[in-house]
Amino acid sequence: MFKFKFKTSLAAVAVLATASVAFAYAQNPHVQKRQEAMGLIGSNAKKLNQMSKGQLPFDAAMAQAAFVAISQKAAEVPALFETEAEDPESDAADEIWFLWDEFVTKAEALEAAASAGTGVDSPAALETALQGLNGACKSCHSQFKL
Ligand code: HEC
Repeated sequence: MFKFKFKTSLAAVAVLATASVAFAYAQNPHVQKRQEAMGLIGSNAKKLNQMSKGQLPFDAAMAQAAFVAISQKAAEVPALFETEAEDPESDAADEIWFLWDEFVTKAEALEAAASAGTGVDSPAALETALQGLNGACKSCHSQFKL
């Protein structure tokens, strides 16, 4: 009897642990992959915005590399979102899949905006390229991200 109870409580702990992980992270592999890609885009964009605000020193090579990384990930966005995968942790709006062409156009706009920054060689050039980049994020998030 004691053994049984002990096992039961272990099982309960395991279930609780799983539940708390599920609460924090998406479980669906498609959702995980697209969130990872967005996370990478986000961390590179953050670096660029910090540079433009003077929170990081301007570094042309670092800025160019960040724009390259964003443009490469942006090119993968349509394929990463193609499957209509759902997850309680996803912030993707259903509109993505019934306005698919518009979503793809916004992903292409992100790729173009990021490509426009791959040659930045001054803070002024960074400023201009960053305006386009931030606009591309906002334009998609306002319509397609919850
Ligand atoms: C074509 C549309 C689109 C563009 C353009 C776009 N995003 Fe996203 N982004 C999304 C969607 C949709 C989600 C929600 C994905 C999910 O949770 O399933 C998202 C999620 C995110 C997340 C959260 C990732 C996570 O871990 O859950 C970050 C950070 C992010 N985007 C940053 C950016 C930045 C920065 C840009 C611009 C440089 C950008 N995004 C451009 C559609 C876009």
